Amino acid sequence: MLIRDEIAGDAAAISAVVENAFAGTVYSDGTEPAIVAGLRDAGAMTLSLVADVDGEVAGHIAFSPVTVAGAAGDWLGLGPLAVDPARQRQGIGTALVEAGLVRLRTRGHGGCVVFGDPAYYRRFGFAPARSMTLKGAPAGYFMILPFGTAIPAGEVRFHDAFGVASGD
Ligand SMILES: CC(C)(COP(=O)(O)OP(=O)(O)OC[C@H]1O[C@@H](n2cnc3c(N)ncnc32)[C@H](O)[C@@H]1OP(=O)(O)O)[C@@H](O)C(=O)NCCC(=O)NCCS
Repeated sequence: MLIRDEIAGDAAAISAVVENAFAGTVYSDGTEPAIVAGLRDAGAMTLSLVADVDGEVAGHIAFSPVTVAGAAGDWLGLGPLAVDPARQRQGIGTALVEAGLVRLRTRGHGGCVVFGDPAYYRRFGFAPARSMTLKGAPAGYFMILPFGTAIPAGEVRFHDAFGVASGD
């Protein structure tokens, strides 16, 4: 398996993986492929990584800028994250998250936020936020991972492409 940046021509395969991954989940409203496409169209995917298994897209992760208290900064939001159902529980999701976080740290970002299952994201160092909030997020499901000592305070907003998933 190779974790690599999205390249031209990957979009359809990424969309299929995202659609299939979320199709079987109770918490999805089916908008995730549109979120990925919206981020891409807006030029807002700061980082778009695919897990490439024998030339096929087996997983995808997106990172995009968030605002905190209405201000743009150097924090990013993780998601959507998706792995082909036939290839889940083989470490692909972990590899995508870890590779993404390493790149963000190297590039000097301030930190990363995520809206998701704490049972999954805790292992990467994400922890419930105190000073940062996400409107509408159930307790514990909004988590942050600062890369340095500075943690901004205020309400976080994901990119408009997230629509309802932004917590609005
Ligand atoms: C969540 C997802 C990306 C994980 O990808 P994956 O490649 O299966 O994950 P990994 O193989 O790296 O799993 C690592 C660990 O997480 C666990 N895990 C997987 N999905 C989990 C979940 N939804 N909640 C809690 N733990 C989970 C696995 O059991 C595994 O633990 P183990 O090694 O102790 O068995 C994948 O299941 C998926 O695409 N799900 C549907 C879409 C989704 O929910 N995306 C995340 C939205 S926040």
